[in-house]
Amino acid sequence: MRQIWITKAGPPEVLEVKEAADPTPKAGEVRVRVEASGVNFADIMGRLGIYPDLPPIPVVPGYEVAGRVDALGAGVEASWNGRDVAAMTHFGGYADAVCVPINHVFVRPAGMSAQEAAAIPVNYFTAWQLIVVMGALKPDETVLIHSAGGGVGIAATQIAKHLGAHVIGTASSGKHAELRALGVDHLIDYRTEEFETRAREITNGRGVELILDAVGGESWKKGYRVLAPTGRLGMFGLSAAATGKSRSVASMLATVARMPWLQFNPLALMNANKGVFGVNLGHMWGEFERIREWADQLFALWTQGVVRPKIAKTFRFDEAPKAHHFIQDRGNIGKVLLVP
Ligand SMILES: NC(=O)c1ccc[n+]([C@@H]2O[C@H](COP(=O)([O-])OP(=O)(O)OC[C@H]3O[C@@H](n4cnc5c(N)ncnc54)[C@H](OP(=O)(O)O)[C@@H]3O)[C@@H](O)[C@H]2O)c1
Repeated sequence: MRQIWITKAGPPEVLEVKEAADPTPKAGEVRVRVEASGVNFADIMGRLGIYPDLPPIPVVPGYEVAGRVDALGAGVEASWNGRDVAAMTHFGGYADAVCVPINHVFVRPAGMSAQEAAAIPVNYFTAWQLIVVMGALKPDETVLIHSAGGGVGIAATQIAKHLGAHVIGTASSGKHAELRALGVDHLIDYRTEEFETRAREITNGRGVELILDAVGGESWKKGYRVLAPTGRLGMFGLSAAATGKSRSVASMLATVARMPWLQFNPLALMNANKGVFGVNLGHMWGEFERIREWADQLFALWTQGVVRPKIAKTFRFDEAPKAHHFIQDRGNIGKVLLVP
């Protein structure tokens, strides 16, 4: 099999394809012959050397794959063999064969392609946790979605619109026309416009009921201010720290320094009727029974045509550096995939 390794922290070119023996599934695992692997922003942070969850480099990154089961570990029912699946991998997903505990494997609904399936787990589970499970978004509420053109942003827009909410998105201006067509009601170019001011204008001064913010730093302070009474701020990433193609300790420290360390104290929250919460899907490995319920609901929504993963671009394994460049150059509208 082939795997894509982060050989050292650095620019996209540190990603290298290497050959290895096919893995053998342990008890309770299946082996998936991979047809598509999801690329996530966390992989980029890992490659930059600023993602604390990543095992020590050199490492094979990757949180999600889709393909067909071709080998079973002890104790796994024979009927799993040959099934078309998606799976969450606790790293190691940038590979054309990977062994996964059966609990982390999801049988695909009939008709769902491997590429669509590989685009679902991280983006849609994260969006579901933010909007439905913790954000409790309701019809007619307004949600502000940062990085609306990313995989999570598009998933979140589809779920929010399905719930009957209004969507304000921030994105690079070149992405606005396509995002409008994908359902975002109002777009803000965060480079030239102040999102706090614009979100207030759009809501006639009221503010928004929910914010999805994986930018971090100063953005969380502004978001907190623009929450309407009963509003909730969901924090789930720190893309502001990823300023270049190599690690910048200065950016990391500046982003951390700009976090709202003092704004969210209990008295302030109570008196303003505001809520803040955090999401890290990568720390939900002990909650897979719940995640399986989310998957059932999302697959049902896929069958109804509500969930529609948007694939921005696919890259061959040997083009993995190009895939990371593409995202860091702000080229993607939707999911980026690696195909063996
Ligand atoms: N906590 C969790 O469980 C969890 C799970 C999934 C994702 N996330 C986080 O959510 C964010 C979005 O993830 P994604 O998978 O949707 O992203 P993606 O598909 O890889 O796309 C990246 C998006 O982020 C925007 N962006 C903001 N800052 C950026 C930067 N410094 N460099 C490049 N692009 C930047 C880009 O939009 P513009 O061009 O419009 O800026 C682009 O739409 C990331 O911060 C990621 O770490 C967190």
